Order: sequence, then C-alpha cells, then structure tokens
Amino acid sequence: MVLPFKHEPFTDFKVEENKKQLETALTAVRKELGREYPLVINGEKIYTDDKLVSINSANKEEVVGKVSKATKEHVEQAFEAAVKAYETWRKVPAEDRAHVLFRAAAIVRRRKHEFSAWLIQDAGKPWDQADGDIAEGIDFLEYYGRQMLELDQGKHVEDRITENNKYFYKAMGPGVVIPPWNFAFAIVCGTVAAPIVAGNPVLLKPSENTPVIAYKLVEVLEEAGLPKGVLNFVSGDPKEIGDYLVDHKDTHFINFTGSRATGVRIFERAAKIQEGQQHLKRVIAEMGGKDTIIVDETADLDLAAESIVHSAFGFSGQKCSACSRAIIHENVYDEVIEKSIEIAKTLTVGNPSEENVYMASVINQTQFDKIKNYIEIGKEEGELVFGGEADDTKGFFIYPTIFKDLDPKARIMQEEIFGPVVAFAKAKDFDELLEIANNTEYGLTGAVISTNRAHLERAREDFHVGNLYFNRGCTAAIVGYQPFGGFKMSGTDSKAGGPDYLQHFLEAKIVSEQF
Ligand code: SER
Repeated sequence: MVLPFKHEPFTDFKVEENKKQLETALTAVRKELGREYPLVINGEKIYTDDKLVSINSANKEEVVGKVSKATKEHVEQAFEAAVKAYETWRKVPAEDRAHVLFRAAAIVRRRKHEFSAWLIQDAGKPWDQADGDIAEGIDFLEYYGRQMLELDQGKHVEDRITENNKYFYKAMGPGVVIPPWNFAFAIVCGTVAAPIVAGNPVLLKPSENTPVIAYKLVEVLEEAGLPKGVLNFVSGDPKEIGDYLVDHKDTHFINFTGSRATGVRIFERAAKIQEGQQHLKRVIAEMGGKDTIIVDETADLDLAAESIVHSAFGFSGQKCSACSRAIIHENVYDEVIEKSIEIAKTLTVGNPSEENVYMASVINQTQFDKIKNYIEIGKEEGELVFGGEADDTKGFFIYPTIFKDLDPKARIMQEEIFGPVVAFAKAKDFDELLEIANNTEYGLTGAVISTNRAHLERAREDFHVGNLYFNRGCTAAIVGYQPFGGFKMSGTDSKAGGPDYLQHFLEAKIVSEQF
C-alpha cells in the first residue's frame, strides 16, 4: 500500500546526535574525494581521459571528483540506448515505474547524511541547506511516484450506449534533462524522476559545477532497479554537447533549469524541426528571478527583517527564488533596514565541510567576479550600508551585502545577481510598492509582509509572480505544498512538485470503441 504523501522532515543540527552523524558522514566522504566517475550509457560505465574537475568552492585546492566528459559520439550512443529503452520502459506498468522511485527515496533517506556531505563538498552548501536539498529530492521521488499512480487512472470522459471512451496518458519519447548546480540534488532528482516515471528515457547532462552528486543519484536509481538505457549520464562541456542534445531529432522534451540566457537559447533551438524529426519538442524552462519582498506600514517589522535577510542570504542568495529587492513603505523604511542589518551581523560565514556555518562560498570564480562587479555597481547606484567584502584567496567568499536608497530602475534592482546582495528601495503607498515589485522582466517569487487584509488580497491578484508568499520569506517552496515555477522571463511556469507537473512529459490519448 502506498501511504499518502508527507514531506520529508528537516534535520535539526542543534541536536548533538544529528551534528555527530553529519560530521561522521563528512569524514567518510573526505576519504572518497578526488575519485574518478564514468559516463553511464545503456548501463555501461565509460571512463574518458578528458574530465570535468569538481572542486570545493570553499577550499579551491580540494578536488571533489573528476567526472568523465561525453563527446557528441557518446551522446549519439546515449540517444540510441534511450530510443531502444523507450520501447520497453513505456510499457512497464506505471506501478512498477513508481516503485523504482519509492525505492530510490528509501535508499536516499537511509543514507541522507552521506548525501548531504557530498552536497556540502560538491556544491558548497551549508548543512541546513544541504539537508533541505536532500529532503526535497526525496520529496520529488515520493510525490511524482504517487502522481503517476493517480494519472495512470486516466481522466473521466463520457460513454454512449454503443460507445466506450477511454482517456489516458502515454509517454512521449526520450528527452534531455539539463539541471542547475544550485539545487544539485533536489532539482536533478525532480527533473529526472518526473519524465522517467512517466515512461520516458532520459539523457542527463548535469551542471559542470556539481557533477559528482548527480552521479550519486544515477547510482541510486540503478540500485533501485531502473533498467539500463532509461537514464543515461552524459556529463560534459555544455559548449561541446549542449546544442547537440537540444537539437537532436530524437529529443522529445528538454527539461531545463538555469539561466535566462541558456533557457531562451534552448527555447529557440528546440522550435526548429530537424531532418527526420516527426514531432514538436516541448521545452520546460525554469530560469531566473529578481524576487521582491514588499513591506507595508502595517507589517510586523521583525518578521519583515527576518524574512528579507534569510531569503536574501540563505545559500548566499544563489537561488532563483532569493530575495534581491526589498521595497519598504517610507514610514517603516529606516527601521526595517536597521533590523535587517542587526540580523545580518549575526550570520556566520565559513567552510561548511569543516563547520556548521550559515553561509559559505559562492559556486565558482565566474560567479564570484560577477557578484563582486555588481557590488561595485551598487556602490555607484545606492548606498552600501552593510558588508560588501569579497575574498577569493582560499574559496569564493562574498559576505552578506545590503544596499539602500536605490532607484527602482537601477541595474542592481533589475538584473539577476545570484549572490548575497539585497537592495532596499522606498515607496509612498501600497500602489507604488506593487508597481515596483512588478517592474522587472521576471516573475518568479515574491512576498508581502502586511497585516492589512485588503493589501494582501490586492497582491493575490496583482503581484505577478508564480510563487507568492504572505508574511514569510520568498524561498523554500516545499514539494506538494508550494508547487514551484514562474511567470514572464522566469520561465514556463512548470510548477515543479505540483499536481500538473507530470503532464509535461505525457501525451493524452483517447481511444473510442464502437460496439
Ligand atoms: N524551489 C526553491 C525555493 O523555493 C528554488 O529553486 O527556494
């Protein structure tokens, strides 16, 4: 019997026993650092000479792992395997496909701290964030398994006296999954598990920043009984194989999460019909955000400051959902900034593979340089009131940074920074708060801190984001509770972890029989 879905609880690392368990896992993982990992094509492990090298972003000297790099020829072999696997996998009963996911969830749950430790090393995630990422991965496996069981029933359509009508869902064909590095377990897990449980083989190209933890997931699914060829692991250089994966005639869908630039490129390329292609490709693209918390004059100001600081600086702001703009009613503006600075002062920054810190490094040199540059731009555009320091001698460390008095059209109010930088601006009334909140090309998450019911109801309709939160921060959506995805240039609003997600990877079919 399949129990109702319940989200995976988080670990409290203030409890000594939990802390010890994670430290033990970190010690064990440390012994495995620097290992080599293969591609997986049709179940075969292939080691290449050329490797992606994953380093610990908090300690650049430390090599986490070396992962084989696929060429176009490898990708071609992976497509062949996926096309072949499709013929059998799509006919495996939905219940059996779902149980592969349930078994995988059980394996990860049992080895949760070990997976968190890998994520801490591979993605530089602080402990709580790593634990949340693993919990979310488990949730996706559990939730999509159940969704498939439900959808397998089909939907009701009417019969007539001499006619029987059946409306049901079928798999589409092989597809490509291109996940990000920032939820290097959860999003990989969700974006792979959904098409697979729907009956579609997958070619997974993990982020070149976090290929080791992605490989770990491939191992888990294999252990859970996924047949060969259903999940092909083609890590590699996106410049070499990215377009090739997207353009291929056998690609039926591209499930992408990442930057706006890459998402738009995929969207355009997928529209072109290739020689031998007999279908239209579907693109699921979850891209950037420029997410805003608005605070009106009736708000609980401590709650406002807590919400802003944790949404802005959790995982160093490296979330598409992160708060990078705080728009505050002029009557409470100074007070919210002061309170936010006080909280920001308490945040610890360090190497999470050594200690339980609030914030760690940012992912790589490119991001470090980009964020540092935005801090310089912010100094021109507004007033730096907290932080602003950056240090890449050992790891890519950027400290929590707060700017105030920004023009709503300033660059740091409009462009996605993807780092621990939040900009404050002032508004005179609720109309203006909302107007500024909606003035970017993105529409992913947002929050309203207010005790005014009319304001909240107005925002429900007029704050144009896919995930809107009242009286809490704007990050940390939970599978099955807050399905996730955005409007405008934030993407195709796929609503990951929601009741409609699997339909992206299914085609509805009607069979009508006369008798
Ligand atoms: N789902 C994450 C959040 O809500 C972002 O990817 O923070």
